[in-house]
Amino acid sequence: MRVDLRGRVALVTGAARGIGFAIAERLGANGARVVVADLNAAQAEAARDRLVAAGIEAMALGADVSDERDVAEMVGCAERSYGAVDILVNNAGMVSTTQVTDTTSADWRRVMAVNLDGVFYCIRAALPGMVARGYGRIVNISSVAGKRGGGLLGGSCYAASKGGVIALTKGVAREAGPFGVTVNAITPALIDTEMTSILPPAGRARVLADMPVGRAGTPADIAAAACFLASDAAAFITGEIMDVDGGFMRD
Ligand SMILES: NC(=O)c1ccc[n+]([C@@H]2O[C@H](COP(=O)([O-])OP(=O)(O)OC[C@H]3O[C@@H](n4cnc5c(N)ncnc54)[C@H](O)[C@@H]3O)[C@@H](O)[C@H]2O)c1
Repeated sequence: MRVDLRGRVALVTGAARGIGFAIAERLGANGARVVVADLNAAQAEAARDRLVAAGIEAMALGADVSDERDVAEMVGCAERSYGAVDILVNNAGMVSTTQVTDTTSADWRRVMAVNLDGVFYCIRAALPGMVARGYGRIVNISSVAGKRGGGLLGGSCYAASKGGVIALTKGVAREAGPFGVTVNAITPALIDTEMTSILPPAGRARVLADMPVGRAGTPADIAAAACFLASDAAAFITGEIMDVDGGFMRD
């Protein structure tokens, strides 16, 4: 599905690789100018170069979403350079697979800081501009782990952070709706990226056995859904938690 994002500016966090890169590429291919933001500035620049080579107008920014000053600077820089942030995709994240009794307080804090605080900081920084312009699209990348409590696709700490993203999505959808801003989340199941390359083959096979489509997802599968939610076609969809999971969450 092609949508028309010409004239829109999209900021995608964690866009140097994996799902975030695929989303940035898809938004750009549909006409948006793209801000590729990532903790790894060098990889963000390399990703930007790939987008530019494909004819997409893009800039790269190094930023840690768990650092509120970094986030304020990142959004400010995007707004100064491109005039606005119309589309915010909160994709940056990290996985943690430990059992709760094996999770240190520092590990818990880091996962919550990246996966949940980061989404909060980015929304808080970008929403005022969207409200002022009367238009915005926020797409948060959560996880089926946030609904099921983890399991093979992450431990309890990861699940708690992604469950928090679901609640935050619904809350901000309520707050921002009257101002022309929609806020939705995508809950992917197993998607082949560097993040999931650590899964043991037996665990991977068990997840796939419960996926009616019979294959792992690709970053492009998530990008297609994100691009739709970021478009005008999705103007009447907000507070929605969309499973893009090959049928994993069907019941
Ligand atoms: N791959 C899956 O199966 C899967 C399933 C459900 C949800 N997700 C979620 O999708 C998102 C993307 O996952 P992926 O599989 O592409 O992961 P990935 O590890 O391949 O890529 C994550 C990107 O985020 C960046 N990043 C990490 N911490 C950051 C920080 N503090 N600030 C800015 N950038 C940071 C990394 O540098 C990297 O480029 C994550 O939020 C993840 O939890 C993935």
